[in-house]
Amino acid sequence: MQKLLSSKMAYQGTSLHVEDVDLKDVAKQFGTPCYVYSAAHIRGQLQELQQAFEAVLPKAHMPKFCYATKANSNINILKTIKDAGGHLEIVSEGELFRGLKAGFKGSDIVMTGIGKQDSEIRAALNAGIKQLNLEAIEELETVNAIAAELGLKAPVAFRLNPNIAAGGDDKIMTGRARDKFGLGPDRILEAYETAHKLPNLEVVGLSMHIGSQIHEVWLFRQAYGVMAEMVQTLRAEGYKVPRLDIGGGFGIAYQEEEPLPAKDIAEAVRDIIVPLDVEILMEPGRFVVGNCGVLLSEVINIKHTTDKSFLVCDFAMNDIMRPSLYNAWHSIVPVAKTNATDTTYDIVGPVCETGDTFARSRTLPQLEKGDLVAVQSAGAYCSSMASNYNSRPMAPEVLIDGDKATLIRRRQTFDDLIALEA
Ligand SMILES: Cc1ncc(COP(=O)(O)O)c(C=O)c1O
Repeated sequence: MQKLLSSKMAYQGTSLHVEDVDLKDVAKQFGTPCYVYSAAHIRGQLQELQQAFEAVLPKAHMPKFCYATKANSNINILKTIKDAGGHLEIVSEGELFRGLKAGFKGSDIVMTGIGKQDSEIRAALNAGIKQLNLEAIEELETVNAIAAELGLKAPVAFRLNPNIAAGGDDKIMTGRARDKFGLGPDRILEAYETAHKLPNLEVVGLSMHIGSQIHEVWLFRQAYGVMAEMVQTLRAEGYKVPRLDIGGGFGIAYQEEEPLPAKDIAEAVRDIIVPLDVEILMEPGRFVVGNCGVLLSEVINIKHTTDKSFLVCDFAMNDIMRPSLYNAWHSIVPVAKTNATDTTYDIVGPVCETGDTFARSRTLPQLEKGDLVAVQSAGAYCSSMASNYNSRPMAPEVLIDGDKATLIRRRQTFDDLIALEA
């Protein structure tokens, strides 16, 4: 049997539970496919970060953890994070809207984004955003003009691209010179100089995010080192650098691997960032929510060909895109505890694309039509990346807290599917 990846998940009796709720009952009440999240897991992850940093950092330098909304943007998840003391990182006006709805103040939110539209910049400034992370010198005039129009000074930081290859897949590496993100160290000084000539900007520092699902702490150390050098260069030129947003990207377990220990990240921050005497922001997404949830699904059919058996489930690439997009590996486990013999399946969904193959040659205890399965690590970059492809209604989301299961997004109806169409 595959390892369970959250301490908030366990077989109780014969059935898999998230906290004190039986997934069998969730399926009965809300149907499948269905995302099921543990609030305690989310709180626990934030606490783990908080405690790891508290153990090694002076109080005055404790980072603000600005949860990366894109990982899972349901406003109830955002509220859970807010109640646990988190802040937010956003990349669009839609995420700003969600953040404000969840009760965050603009001053709790930082905004990144390689292509911010004027309307998004205006909305963020109007909301009193803590900082805009700028990714291009070409953005400066626009931000300055909008800030002038609003009669304020826009707090801006420049996203540094340290030219480091880090991340679980080519598509989620964001810190190489060839990637579209940020400015290389050779452009930051120019950006600072240009910004200081514009009256409606207040330059508050630098930001950085080198990639996602990173397990090697030395890559963070290397990136933080590039940032520290940049801070020294700027200060030597007489510029102030009061704040650093050092990004997210901390790797979690999808299989048997160990997640990146929060302690290792905290020590890297202590050694490299703290001596710079700055306010520190961080942007963890996956680390906070990745393993808080499962995608609960029912086996529609088992199809046998001459060569293999296909386990056809009722979830598809529109519900969980990561395997198709990044060849990502997600663990899948039966909901009912079983001693059935192991069988090898190709696991697929109903979408009309061979790309809708969740796993090839996966060994699982033998399953039958109607059995329930749980796809693990479905808290991050699953519901937030979902689509209606093949006119499949989006799955509901259920948040478990102790023995309480709350529907935090209902299943779309067929009427929802065509509601925006003329
Ligand atoms: C700018 C930025 N910050 C933070 C994150 C969060 O990354 P992770 O979920 O790996 O922590 C991302 C993810 O793509 C990002 O683009």
